[in-house]
Amino acid sequence: FMKEEHIYPPEYEGHFDGVMITCAEIHERIQQLATLIHTDYKGIRPVLVCTLKGASPFYIHLSDALKEIRQGFDMEFVRASSYEGTATSGQVEFVGELKMNSLQGRHILLIEDIVDTGTTLSALIPMLQQQGNPAGVEVCSLLDKRLEVKKYEAKYVGFSIPNKFVIGYGLDYEELYRDLKDIFVISQLGISFDASTLHK
Ligand code: XMP
Ligand code: MG
Repeated sequence: FMKEEHIYPPEYEGHFDGVMITCAEIHERIQQLATLIHTDYKGIRPVLVCTLKGASPFYIHLSDALKEIRQGFDMEFVRASSYEGTATSGQVEFVGELKMNSLQGRHILLIEDIVDTGTTLSALIPMLQQQGNPAGVEVCSLLDKRLEVKKYEAKYVGFSIPNKFVIGYGLDYEELYRDLKDIFVISQLGISFDASTLHK
């Protein structure tokens, strides 16, 4: 399954169970998403809000595709990290330098790496609506996990994927694997690997 075009740092050997989405597939889909967004935002200049860190490669490539088709936008960044506070309730924390007055009356397009249960977005979107008072908030997510119950569904989705833990193209496991061109399924070795052995 590991074709030659799937290049990755040698320290990751054995850390994947397979490729889920190749970089060629990602780039092809990004062109289509840019066209869809441009169709919907004709005459409107959205604020593209990147949710760090995971969405950053997608954000860069999507914004490049929008530039090519002459769709204007402004750029903002937010950092959201979700964690399980208890067994049943997910909690989400926000940090970053997003200026809420830059969102007043604007059309926000949140750029996400992955929507899993929708917990992150169901916290982030009301926060942006209440504090930023924008004209609207929509979401463009590269990936969307197919689950029975979701708290939030993105308007624009790159790929709908099975409920497996994926890494690469910005997506991490314990801060590793963001530096991959393609999206892979993590292996048992990848899960149990001690990242600190690479910190030299
Ligand atoms: P929720 O459940 O809030 O989850 O929609 C969104 C966040 O959970 C992380 N996440 C993943 N990260 N591979 C990852 O690297 C995955 O398969 C995965 N599933 C969920 C991610 O931080 C995302 O923003
Ligand atoms: Mg993460």
